[in-house]
Amino acid sequence: MEQQKLLDLLKDMSLDEKINQLFQGGAGFYAEGSIATGPASEQGFSEKTIREAGSVLSVVGAKTIKEIQKNHIENHPHHIPLVFMADIINGYKTIFPIPLAQGAAFNPKVAYTGAEVAAKESSAAGIHVTFSPMVDLVRDARWGRVMESTGEDPYLNSVYAKALVEGYQGDDPKKSGKLGACVKHFAGYGAPTGGRDYNNVELSERTLRDDYLPAYEAAIKAGALLVMTSFNTLNRIPSTANKWLMRQVLREEMGFEGTVISDWAAIEEIKYHGLCEDRKGAAKLAIEAGTDIDMMTTCYSNYLKELIESGEVSEELLDEAVLRVLELKNKLGLFENPYKDADEDAEKTVLLCEEHRKKAKEAAKETFVLLENNGILPLKKEEKVAFIGPFTEEKNIIGAWSIFGEAKDAVSVKEGVEAYKVNALFAKGCDSIDPGKKVYGMNLPYDCKRTKEEADAMIEEAVETALKADKVVMCIGEHMAQTGEAASRGDITIPKQQKKLLKAVARVNKNIIVVLFNGRPLDIRKIKELAKAILVVWMPGSEGGNAITEVLYGETAPSGRLPMSFPYSVGQVPVFYGEFNTGRKMDDSNPDNKFQSRYIDIPNKPLYTFGYGLSYTKFTYSEVNLSRGLLEEGGELIASVIVRNTGKRRGAEVVQMYIRDDCGSVARPVRELKGFEKIWLEPGEEKEVSFSITEEILKFHDINMNYTAEKGSFTVFIGSDSDTNNQKKFELI
Ligand code: NOJ
Repeated sequence: MEQQKLLDLLKDMSLDEKINQLFQGGAGFYAEGSIATGPASEQGFSEKTIREAGSVLSVVGAKTIKEIQKNHIENHPHHIPLVFMADIINGYKTIFPIPLAQGAAFNPKVAYTGAEVAAKESSAAGIHVTFSPMVDLVRDARWGRVMESTGEDPYLNSVYAKALVEGYQGDDPKKSGKLGACVKHFAGYGAPTGGRDYNNVELSERTLRDDYLPAYEAAIKAGALLVMTSFNTLNRIPSTANKWLMRQVLREEMGFEGTVISDWAAIEEIKYHGLCEDRKGAAKLAIEAGTDIDMMTTCYSNYLKELIESGEVSEELLDEAVLRVLELKNKLGLFENPYKDADEDAEKTVLLCEEHRKKAKEAAKETFVLLENNGILPLKKEEKVAFIGPFTEEKNIIGAWSIFGEAKDAVSVKEGVEAYKVNALFAKGCDSIDPGKKVYGMNLPYDCKRTKEEADAMIEEAVETALKADKVVMCIGEHMAQTGEAASRGDITIPKQQKKLLKAVARVNKNIIVVLFNGRPLDIRKIKELAKAILVVWMPGSEGGNAITEVLYGETAPSGRLPMSFPYSVGQVPVFYGEFNTGRKMDDSNPDNKFQSRYIDIPNKPLYTFGYGLSYTKFTYSEVNLSRGLLEEGGELIASVIVRNTGKRRGAEVVQMYIRDDCGSVARPVRELKGFEKIWLEPGEEKEVSFSITEEILKFHDINMNYTAEKGSFTVFIGSDSDTNNQKKFELI
């Protein structure tokens, strides 16, 4: 539809109609048995509001959506279609590894493909917009939602943000098989105080701009149609009511022209943050800040009219928001084609099809991170291997946000190994949740009703199994529902019963390989002591079991790297590589010096740093070669290394370039990732890897908050993780 027609339509709409266009209702109003992804509001939605609503969340299924849409259009005074939105995060039915795992691939193509598949499947099921990508920078492993992010690094997150938006939207979200993307949660949601979900965020403007905003901006530059506000207060102002954040930073500075949606009930929550006394006040603050859609409250639908009629809010402000909702519908082509790709036949052929499963398997294989290996891996087909632990037969390995995916469609480790036809034994050993404990998933509690006697007997059986094997693969970790929204943890170790199982098995068989299922970096000191190899597999998705089997047996080498540091213990959290030097930097050669920036009981360094990961082979690096020692304004400098596979197997190396600004007008991080490339090398093969360095990538917010690069000395590091010492200096003149 032409813009003028949209404007005419807007002009023709009644005040009520316009206000209701801003309302987004939940699936419960439209379809039975639907999923709620937030607390139910008690507030009473009027029938008229629902009849005239602008969008819906969490309804899926071509048939249902077509019926709802048809009915809605018929009954709407201007026959305006609904937009159907949902959380399609790491897949719809074919589930890819969780986003944190995708970050570990250090290969944005993995995310692109995952988004492409998710878009194809969910658009066939009638969805128009996904609440993804979540690009919040995360540095606190206690926070359950780190699994939804691609990790601790601004650059890595930005590269992935772009890939995800492009995967969902293609070159035009209107096209068949594509979705509109909604980047979230704007802004700073990944830094809740104490790692507790929904908690307040305090970030200096410089930290916000240098570290947290770039990934949102990358998603916006890639064309994301929507932005979702975050639940948190940012420096004491709830994002949903933050005029500076939404009007100045998002719209003026970043140039965002799309639609802003509140997070679930976030408009009403402005009241609980204490910025207004009632919902009417919340509606006023939110609309003034530039929040267009009210997800799941009646703040707008019940109070905007009063606010406008009394002159407290101008009608222009409302019109601005309504126009952005109409424009969204137009960008999705819904005025011409309100059903978009909803198609029952396509659902039958596309969902979980072979091609998608294959892509999910290839993706999963790229995300596993080998933390330790004394040579025990890869396994050999003829060895007798016992697979022990709750995740041996667990199919719920699709991650907390796979709300439409089903565990029954996932391949467990046991199924993967059995299909591979090797000499294997299996024992569950214990449940993933401790006996008598409960964890809550999106809707349901998962509990373990096992008695102590039954639990002990299971460990006994596992020990017997371990005794019969050459090697033991322990499949252990966090339950899927221990991560995700509202799943912050104060203890980031694996559950007690699993530790007990691991110790019992390790007593009788020393050849322990741990396959760790996790949605966050965990404290794995105990595991490290007992295991000869550790393979982090995160929540690997529908094809998890097959992918794990192929990597364990060396069909392919693990090629993931940590997108978030694994802390030594929870006491270090937040711990990340891009920290700042203190005035009293820890001198490792002088541990007895008390007055240094250090802990007296634990190390400063994480157990495994960002970017770390092993292969089944070894690589050597040449010195860093710089094309020139000086970089002038507008110029370019090439930094390169030659990487060689010196081992006996094919493998992948993630070549990483970090830069340190040696001296700035404000303190600068000790190093920052500025480039990476994953390369596969045959034994004996070598390859030159080059990175371009321009003034642009050296920019930051200086003492006057100008975004600029400062002249002077820089150090460039190129190596296999964020600890590399392979360095050279250059100067920006
Ligand atoms: C709340 C979550 O914070 C957000 O990420 C999600 O998209 C919405 N609920 C809708 O389910």
